[in-house]
Order: sequence, then C-alpha cells, then structure tokens
Amino acid sequence: MSAHLETILAGRSICICVGSGGVGKTTTSAAIAVAMAQRGLKVAVLTIDPARRLADSLGLAELGNVPSPVELEEIEGEGELWAMMLDPKATFDEVIQRYSPDEESRQRILGNRIYQQISGALAGSQEYMAMEKLYELDEDEDFDLLILDTPPSRNALDFLDAPRRVTQFVEGRAMRLFVRPTGFGARIAGRGFSVVSSVLRRVTGGDLIADLSEFFSAMAVLLGGFRERAERVEALLRDERTTFLVVTGPAGEPVKEAGYLRGKLAEGDLPLGAVIVNRVHAAADAGDQRLLLADVIGDPDLRDRILAAYEGRRLLAARDRENVATLRSGSPGVPVFEVPELSEEIHDLPGLAEFARLLMPA
Ligand SMILES: Nc1ncnc2c1ncn2[C@@H]1O[C@H](COP(=O)(O)OP(=O)(O)O)[C@@H](O)[C@H]1O
Ligand SMILES: [Mg+2]
Repeated sequence: MSAHLETILAGRSICICVGSGGVGKTTTSAAIAVAMAQRGLKVAVLTIDPARRLADSLGLAELGNVPSPVELEEIEGEGELWAMMLDPKATFDEVIQRYSPDEESRQRILGNRIYQQISGALAGSQEYMAMEKLYELDEDEDFDLLILDTPPSRNALDFLDAPRRVTQFVEGRAMRLFVRPTGFGARIAGRGFSVVSSVLRRVTGGDLIADLSEFFSAMAVLLGGFRERAERVEALLRDERTTFLVVTGPAGEPVKEAGYLRGKLAEGDLPLGAVIVNRVHAAADAGDQRLLLADVIGDPDLRDRILAAYEGRRLLAARDRENVATLRSGSPGVPVFEVPELSEEIHDLPGLAEFARLLMPA
C-alpha cells in the first residue's frame, strides 16, 4: 500500500464514492472533503442521507440544493469546505426549468400530476439527479474538488445505470408500455412498468390518460436537451478529472459486492481510483492479555468473560484480515486503503478529521 489517497486525488476535480448501503460512504465522502479542505483546497461535498448529527455538524439541518460553507474553526484548515444535501425533487424541477423552451411548457410539466409523482418515484431518478447536480456545480462553480456521496441504493449498481434509465423513461418507453399494459408488453415491462403503475395508483381522480399524454407531450419538447445533457453527465463520469472510490466493509458480502462493483466500473469504462475498506477490526493479542489478566483479575468468571470477548475480537480481526487480503489480490493495480472500526460514531468535524487522518495520513 505505497500509494497515498492524496496522490490519487491530486489533479482530480471530481471524486465519487460508491458502495452498498451502510458501509460508510457518507462518512468517507465527508472525511475526504475535510482532509482536502485542511490541505488548502476549496471543496464541496454533495451528500445524500447523512445521519442526523453529522448533517447538523455540517450545517445541513435543512435540505438545500446549493452548497453552503462549513465553519472550519474546530479543525484548522487552510481551504474551504462547502456541503450540500441533495434534494432530488428540486433538482428534477431545475432540470425541467432549464430545458423548457418557455414558461408555458415549464408550467405544464411542473404542474402535471404524473410529473409530480414520477419525479419523486422514478427508479434511478435520485441517483441521476445527484450526477446532474454534480455536473452543474462543475460547470458553474469554481470548486477545486467536488465529492459526491451516492444514494443508499439497495444495489450499488443502480447508480451507474441511472442516466440511461432516466433518459429511457423520458424517451417514452415506459409510456409505450403503459398504453399496452397487457400481453407481451406487460410481460417484458418488469420494473419500468411497476414504477408507472405504482405512480398511477397514487394519482387518483381526474383523467389519467389525459394527464399522461400531456406529460409525455410536454416532456417531448425538452427531450433533446435532456438527452444531450445526460450524455454530457455520463461523459463527465468518464473524464480523466474524475475518480471513483469503492467503499466497502470487511465482511464477506460487502467484499464480494466491492469486487462486483469494480468489474462494473471497468465494464462501463469508469475510472476506479481506489478501494476503501472501512470498519476493519484491529487484531487484539489475546495471548498477552491472558497473562496480564491472570495477574490482575482475581475473579475467574469475570476473567473468562473478558477472555471470551477478546477471542471474539481476535476471530473478527482474523476474518477481516483474510477478506482484505482477498480483496487486494483480486484488485491488481488498484490501491486498497483501510480504516479501522472506531469506538464511536462519527458525527462532527473533529470526528471526520480523525477518520481522515486514518484514511489519508498527513
Ligand atoms: N470506521 C468507522 N468506525 C465506526 N463507525 C463508523 C465508521 N465508519 C462509519 N461509521 C458509522 O457507521 C454509520 C453508517 O455510516 P455512513 O457513512 O452513513 O454509511 P453509508 O453512507 O454507506 O450508508 C454511521 O453511523 C457512521 O458514524
Ligand atoms: Mg450514506
């Protein structure tokens, strides 16, 4: 592990953290942002679902769709840290606004009940909107580094398919499936159709077909711009200024998932910078403890319980070591970084700075 994460990030302006839910993507994204701001860069982190206390400490008590500055006094930093919590629905509205040729077509879509449901419910739309926002900040703002935390998809790969899924939907494939909801069309429709029908169940009253056809005809007006934008968003993901970090845990399943994700990134020609294994259990040397404990603790029952805890810990550490080794040997040429399991949740700037010190020592 001779490479340093800082070297991998040097010269990049976009860093995207992917991985399955709960592995520490949000924490890692925020910690890298802190570390790079401490090193003097102007950094923005786009986060998706920060735990409440972390959101509070980043000044993200409210969902806002523009980055706001984070006070770095507590941790000393030369640079600037900005944070934003993505509002996918508001971003979708902004996209509509951007591509509507005039006020009337804009209102037709924004006021349409199908749109109002779909913009929140469409599979992949949250993921797509995150990338859309990233693109916008890259175009319009002057950050040195943008860090994107990705949504807690059940399947981390949803994220990578999102642009395609959203444009296909807008192109009207889902509509075609809807108007022929029986027979072959319905059988192959699968997920796309179930999204549409669940949206429709929620839109009650009025003339559904009229709403739907108006939605799709209004969308058709801005389709060209939308599709072109999606292509540029995808191109940005492949740009050499961009790097992906796969975040994973040290247990069996996350490690497998990380391997899968790595393959998918390669398939999609998306640049993988590093794999980060978070919450690795450090080895505990029970041998030494046994001798020590025998001296110090008279109560044999208590001693046994403490030793059992040590043994559990030792097994966990051994398992983690083995999984990390598997991950390393399966990722030739890709640096793998480890962050240990910490004794406390990370919910404030000093906590993030500590996490960052472990991930990327100064
Ligand atoms: N190395 C670590 N040690 C201890 N707790 C951690 C560590 N990394 C993350 N956590 C905690 O795990 C929880 C989930 O982390 P989070 O970053 O929200 O995951 P994700 O975004 O992948 O769902 C949070 O409460 C966080 O504080
Ligand atoms: Mg998260």
